[in-house]
Amino acid sequence: MQEPPVILTCAQPTGGLTLGNYLGALRNWSRMQVDHECYFGIVDMHSITTPYVPAELRRNTLACLAQYLACGIDPSKAHVFVQSHVIGHSELAWVLACLTPLGELQRMTQFKDKVAKLGFKVKEEDTADLKFTHSGSRAQASVNSGLLSYPVLMASDILLYNADLVPVGEDQRQHLELCRDLAQRFNQTYSDTFKIPEAYVGKSGARVMSLADPTRKMSKSDTNQNATIFIHDEADVIRKKIGSAVTDSGNEVKADPEKPGVTNLLSIQSAITGEEIPSLEKRFEGQGYGTFKQTVAETVVEALQPVRDKYLSLVDDKPYLESVLKDGAAAAQKTAFRILSKVYRKIGFVERPR
Ligand code: TRP
Repeated sequence: MQEPPVILTCAQPTGGLTLGNYLGALRNWSRMQVDHECYFGIVDMHSITTPYVPAELRRNTLACLAQYLACGIDPSKAHVFVQSHVIGHSELAWVLACLTPLGELQRMTQFKDKVAKLGFKVKEEDTADLKFTHSGSRAQASVNSGLLSYPVLMASDILLYNADLVPVGEDQRQHLELCRDLAQRFNQTYSDTFKIPEAYVGKSGARVMSLADPTRKMSKSDTNQNATIFIHDEADVIRKKIGSAVTDSGNEVKADPEKPGVTNLLSIQSAITGEEIPSLEKRFEGQGYGTFKQTVAETVVEALQPVRDKYLSLVDDKPYLESVLKDGAAAAQKTAFRILSKVYRKIGFVERPR
């Protein structure tokens, strides 16, 4: 019998999941677990690359798991694990780091963005010798080498399970490209070991935009309270946020690049109900923004209600969440050890005495 393709994806345990995460990613992940071997990782080791609070990281890790499960990930079908529970992620990352030229990491777009966010200016006179200069009081910490190595650790997450498909957002494409390069480089340097993973682009990978600035992606870290719907928002909060969503001038409910606000609400409605946008446009013809927004709000409230209920029933059930992680770690560890020992053998490490 042919093995089902291996799908792996991970998310950092920061803050809450958004409607965008749900419609664009998680809803699709839970559909995939039926006919794929799925690994879903909560990558706490990635979360310590930028300033963070340990108690929050601990709390968010379990909350993140509760949210995964609330969105339909089923631990009897998929392996859900915490990265730091599985030996092998940082071990393989080390091996891969030794195949990664420094310049490739320094050129990564996300690295440069994060460095800038920390309050540093990136001076790039020469990519082989990146310089950081403070730009004012926002500088909190120095740029640590973990932040630079972040994409290598991510490549390790993927290759440690020999994943075929990796569902990732646009912003992670460059990292996945590096992972593919590293897999190829390893295979050429030693011998054929890793599969070359592909990006998995879901069917209706709905791209949900900020309700306050519909030209930007909806983000969990938006400072504007009304910009983002979280999957555990209360019904009235959702109604309020959608009610105050930026719409555009005029009153026609029509998808149009000139009307990013209305377009965003239309695509949310369409992603949830499955009704095509032209058909929605027809249905709301002549009704103005008010009625339209109310309908979208009720659609979102109804779609998220079961997710929210399930989340609330799980989030404080620590024994259950820990039992899920125990099983997930055991399954992940089995695969991880198998691949890691293969890698160690190929690169010339002496076999560990038993
Ligand atoms: N870097 C990813 C993000 O921030 C998270 C991530 C870590 C990941 N390891 C991964 C995603 C492996 C897919 C596969 O979104």
